[in-house]
Amino acid sequence: MSEIFPEGGQQHPIDLTINAQARSLQVHPWTTLLDLLREQLDLIGTKKGCDHGQCGACTVLRDGKRINACLTLAIMCDGADLVTIEGLASGDQLHPMQRAFITHDAFQCGYCTPGQICSAVGLAREGHAATPDVIREQMSGNLCRCGAYSNIVAAVQEALPLMRAAPQAQGDQQP
Ligand code: FES
Ligand code: FES
Repeated sequence: MSEIFPEGGQQHPIDLTINAQARSLQVHPWTTLLDLLREQLDLIGTKKGCDHGQCGACTVLRDGKRINACLTLAIMCDGADLVTIEGLASGDQLHPMQRAFITHDAFQCGYCTPGQICSAVGLAREGHAATPDVIREQMSGNLCRCGAYSNIVAAVQEALPLMRAAPQAQGDQQP
């Protein structure tokens, strides 16, 4: 922890919304959004894989757009509306993309899954065709070391039309 958050150094105030909750925080200028979520806010659903923008495990939604939290400084998120995997469900009701991943058994170890799901939710509002080839291309930044790709594509292909027809869950709303 001390290497991630060394003692001292000036912190800066930021205000943001995370999973529909307004938060006022103090962050060091070098703290990544990924470390802020995991180490300071205990939102550990967002995973750290490579920590270098290579794997997509840290994908979250910022103002509805998918981003790599490991490549984003927390201080750059002042005023942002963030949604993580913890914010997608509505109470006990899973997000349609979460349900589709379960229906299609689209995971094995599950480590990549939060990033896959957040990426797919972001993809839904980008207007691409929901064909397997397009989904594979548009989800190519999200790696799965277990090789669950065919099931992931099937899950995304099922959920995209549902989300576009009824964009009411967290992360689906247009800005
Ligand atoms: S942990 Fe961010 S892309 Fe791998
Ligand atoms: S389910 Fe194991 S890395 Fe994707």
